[in-house]
Amino acid sequence: MTKGIRLIIFITLAVLLTVIYWFFKGTVLPQDTIGIVIFSSLLMLSFNTLVLEHYFTKPTDVLAASIAILLLITPIKKDLVNLGAWYNTLFFFTLGLGILSVVSLALFAPNKPEDATQNKISKLLKDFVVRFGSSKVQFFFLFVLTMFFYIDSKSQYFLFLFIYSAFVLLDPWKFIMKIPAFVKQKPQEGIGQIFGVQSKNTFLVKLYDKRPSIKIFDFVEFKYSMDENKSVRTGLILDNYLLNQEQWVKVLVSDEISKIFENKIYNTFNDVNVVFKITNPENNNYLEKFVGLIDENSTISTIRFVYNSKKEIFDGQLLEVFIRGKKVLYQVIQGITKIETLEQKNETGYIVGEAIQLGIWSLENGNFEKYGWVPFINSPVYIASPIPVPAIGENEYEIGKIPNSNYPVILKKDIALTHHTAILGVTGTGKSIFARNLIRQYLKDPNTKVICIDFTDEYNGKFSDLNPIKVIPDEIAEQAFKDIDFIEKEVGKNYNKDNDATLAKRKQVAINIHKSICDFLKNPDTKLSIFELPDVSNTSGILEYTKYFFKLLFHIAKKDKSFGNRVCLVLEEAHTVIPEWNFAGIADKASQSLLNTIAQIALQGRKFNVGLLVIAQRTANVSKTVLTQCNTIISFQEFDKTSSDFLANYFGQGIADTLPNLKFRQAIAAGKGLKSNVPMIFEVPHIDEPEPPKNEVEEKIIIEKPDTNEKNAL
Ligand SMILES: Nc1ncnc2c1ncn2[C@@H]1O[C@H](COP(=O)(O)OP(=O)(O)OP(=O)(O)O)[C@@H](O)[C@H]1O
Ligand SMILES: [Mg+2]
Repeated sequence: MTKGIRLIIFITLAVLLTVIYWFFKGTVLPQDTIGIVIFSSLLMLSFNTLVLEHYFTKPTDVLAASIAILLLITPIKKDLVNLGAWYNTLFFFTLGLGILSVVSLALFAPNKPEDATQNKISKLLKDFVVRFGSSKVQFFFLFVLTMFFYIDSKSQYFLFLFIYSAFVLLDPWKFIMKIPAFVKQKPQEGIGQIFGVQSKNTFLVKLYDKRPSIKIFDFVEFKYSMDENKSVRTGLILDNYLLNQEQWVKVLVSDEISKIFENKIYNTFNDVNVVFKITNPENNNYLEKFVGLIDENSTISTIRFVYNSKKEIFDGQLLEVFIRGKKVLYQVIQGITKIETLEQKNETGYIVGEAIQLGIWSLENGNFEKYGWVPFINSPVYIASPIPVPAIGENEYEIGKIPNSNYPVILKKDIALTHHTAILGVTGTGKSIFARNLIRQYLKDPNTKVICIDFTDEYNGKFSDLNPIKVIPDEIAEQAFKDIDFIEKEVGKNYNKDNDATLAKRKQVAINIHKSICDFLKNPDTKLSIFELPDVSNTSGILEYTKYFFKLLFHIAKKDKSFGNRVCLVLEEAHTVIPEWNFAGIADKASQSLLNTIAQIALQGRKFNVGLLVIAQRTANVSKTVLTQCNTIISFQEFDKTSSDFLANYFGQGIADTLPNLKFRQAIAAGKGLKSNVPMIFEVPHIDEPEPPKNEVEEKIIIEKPDTNEKNAL
């Protein structure tokens, strides 16, 4: 093939020479002696450069050139009279080269050692003649002499001949070989032979002892004997083992890898089942997203995969696997180290990851939809690629994103509000800041009112930009406490029975609180209020007062539909308001009675558009009656067993096990209020709260906080 191309170039050059000659001399072939010498020396120059002595010159080539030149110039000596002394120089130089090459050939004794004197002289002569007597040198010498002595150096003919000879001497072939289309790849050696196939897409390859160097994550290609059309497959080296003194590698083949190379072939294949390395693969990001292969014991809800990647992954990482062409997403919840025994003493260590199914992402609905089947064993697992940003509905709010991805976690605000939401997590994890942000989102709805039950003063100054009001004005609260005190004393005196006076007082308390609540709900200018406790030490009084408030609020919701409003009751530090029964303090009966009232709201509230937002550190000390009614749960980091048991029931054991490992601002979300009804780990964005006005901050420092210990004992 290459020789063929070189011949074509030679013929092209010969035609070009003929054209030049015809252009200047008017005939196709030379008629005069000088013309013959010039024409034939240039023709021989290009023929020898391109065809005969393309790679190297042998003494026989030198001899052949010498004979040809002597035969050409001897009969026309008289026609070359202009050369003068140069004729003899040329003649004897050519003759000398011919003789020396004959001597070199004659002296060479193949049966004698290389360093024998005879062979040494032969080699010396050979080196000399091939260097100074190559046909390039000899014909060029002849051509130059003839040209200088016979052709006008100022003529165009001279110029053309000069350029032509320079072009031939520089070897046009070398230029042509630099054109990429003509570059012929050197045949590559294979790296090894296929000896086994696992689940159709992973091939086991036994490496040759002598092979090009390879490493894990190199791309390879091969033809597989079982393929009918013997097309070339591309793969990725995943693993290597040393077993019984043999080196094996595992090669993964996948549609995604084939797509990168798109039928491009890098090696010449003489044999099937021989694997070749792809030395300069196409640029691609395959290794940026490849995580590993599906392992045994994967189920529809939880996949297990052998981690085999250049990329680091962590719990919460979103992964994608293709099942029958559909992209199914999973979230990493666990990593386990394993050891596999290959044969007797040989062992290999590896990591198995576990990930739970989130489902197929529906861009249209902005949620995950469960997929009802498992991936094939050895299917490749990838880091999830970014998705187009879905539209967020008016009643929806993006509470965060799945870690390391742009998949949003979307909350349906109305359901989250009316079907009760719990925000859990140990201290300092960001529950309150998250809840306050959520409250701000709830309040964007014109018909939503929020009442924060804040016994621990957490919200003091935090909502100043929203101008919160006290739901029960101070003077009414004080009067109510006095009345409750009076009632308690009277009832105590009267064998725990009410008399007319106490009944009248009760009615008065109810009327006052009822009116305050109604005022708040009816007033279109107030959307947020704080239910605080006056600084009193009568614990049972506090419980009674709070109970009045909840009862009446619920009564208004039932009777008056809260005047067209949706009401959210925020229970901050919920153990202070709805303690679990065995954590309830001294005033058991009163506490139980308050709890029952709130439980009523938890059970039926959604029917009347009253919802709870329960914020708690631990589930252990918060009423389960209320917590179990929370249809949406967002849990930040939790360590204690009661919480993890409770949340395992809600989220599933696998994902609940990640609770202690959640990072700052990470949480698990699940429930009715979320668009995707599958538990998932997500990351809360940085929340910037509006700064409280300066004077309020100062006030907070100066004024001593009320003693909350007693209230906590509720
Ligand atoms: N999403 C967030 N954006 C910005 N800062 C945050 C975020 N989450 C938490 N923080 C920071 O962490 C601190 C603690 O948050 P926060 O008060 O909400 O915790 P908490 O869970 O309510 O704790 P506790 O149970 O003790 O009340 C905040 O003051 C804030 O600085
Ligand atoms: Mg808090």
